Amino acid sequence: MTAREVSLAVEVGGVRLKNPVVTASGCAGYGREYARFYPLARLGAVVVKSTTLEPRLGNPPPRVVETPAGMLNSIGLQNPGVDRVISEEIPWLREQGATIVVNVAGFSLREYAELARRLDRVEGVSGLELNISCPNVERQGTSFCTRPDTARDVVRVAREATGLPLWVKLSPNVADIGEMAQAVAEAGADAISLINTLVGMAIDVDARRPVLPRGTGGLSGPAIRPVALAMVYRVAQVVEVPVVGMGGIATARDALAFLLAGASAVAVGTASFSNPVAAVDIVEGIESYLREQGFSDVRAFVGLANPDLRAPRGVTPARAGPRPGGSPGGPAPPACPAAETPLGQEEGPG
Ligand SMILES: Cc1cc2nc3c(=O)[nH]c(=O)nc-3n(C[C@H](O)[C@H](O)[C@H](O)COP(=O)(O)O)c2cc1C
Repeated sequence: MTAREVSLAVEVGGVRLKNPVVTASGCAGYGREYARFYPLARLGAVVVKSTTLEPRLGNPPPRVVETPAGMLNSIGLQNPGVDRVISEEIPWLREQGATIVVNVAGFSLREYAELARRLDRVEGVSGLELNISCPNVERQGTSFCTRPDTARDVVRVAREATGLPLWVKLSPNVADIGEMAQAVAEAGADAISLINTLVGMAIDVDARRPVLPRGTGGLSGPAIRPVALAMVYRVAQVVEVPVVGMGGIATARDALAFLLAGASAVAVGTASFSNPVAAVDIVEGIESYLREQGFSDVRAFVGLANPDLRAPRGVTPARAGPRPGGSPGGPAPPACPAAETPLGQEEGPG
């Protein structure tokens, strides 16, 4: 490496990323639309749309509403189901040379365990991201993400079912984000992703009813960036696992702020809807900023604005070894309001 080269590689809870920029789940589908704009292998990873055990058609329209500096969505976890994701989407993503993190969503502990089990030995899957912002049908529809004990249970059952690295995605719709982060870290999360969307609402004044058919939706985009940044900063102080930060990141400077707060990597979501190459622009912007500032390794930049940082700086192999029998996802060598679920309001988006 010459003096002016910058190393952007990080390892986030056992997932090796060539750079710290990934797609935010649900904002890039399974990558196909974005592959027309840039090679998916340019990104640290493609984090795919939340994948459920069974296919889902999602919620009726309208599913999105523009809001000041952001948007509300209520997609309803539309996806083709895990079997088709395994047989069609993952092989295609592998052909693109993408690093693949599969985001999974369940409506019971059994479903999370089954999803983790089915994905465990799928070639090309580098890790799982657990979307725990879903209603638990076994507990009157309360979201898994709202209580430390239920969040912990999801991680525990997934951990038992797979040796793959587990990123656990937290909802901001809780009283104490630090407590939730500690709970999932203790249960075996290899990394923590945050934040999912904030619950929000828009009302059509003339029609005198909420715009979204289910009333509320998930707020994303620049409007939530300060909230996300504060939560990343806090979580990076209370856990010893790496953090993947997201929420309103639209430019390289936004991403740099999350890295300074203590995130080892960042995800780009809503920004990609108005600028399809936003994620790649951000990779390039991070690299040139670090070069200008004299950094040779992005990991040396992580957490510089957070003196009480406990989270590592993007160098952690997965802690959990493969379960008996081995798994391709073991420690790396030297990172829902559902139309069908009337029981509860999904805390996260669609
Ligand atoms: C249209 C849309 C769909 C989303 N779908 C999912 C999803 O399926 N699973 C998930 O974990 N997060 C989902 N999210 C949340 C994003 O991954 C991200 O956490 C959130 O939008 C904040 O980042 P952003 O402001 O950059 O979009 C979705 C967000 C949007 C806008």
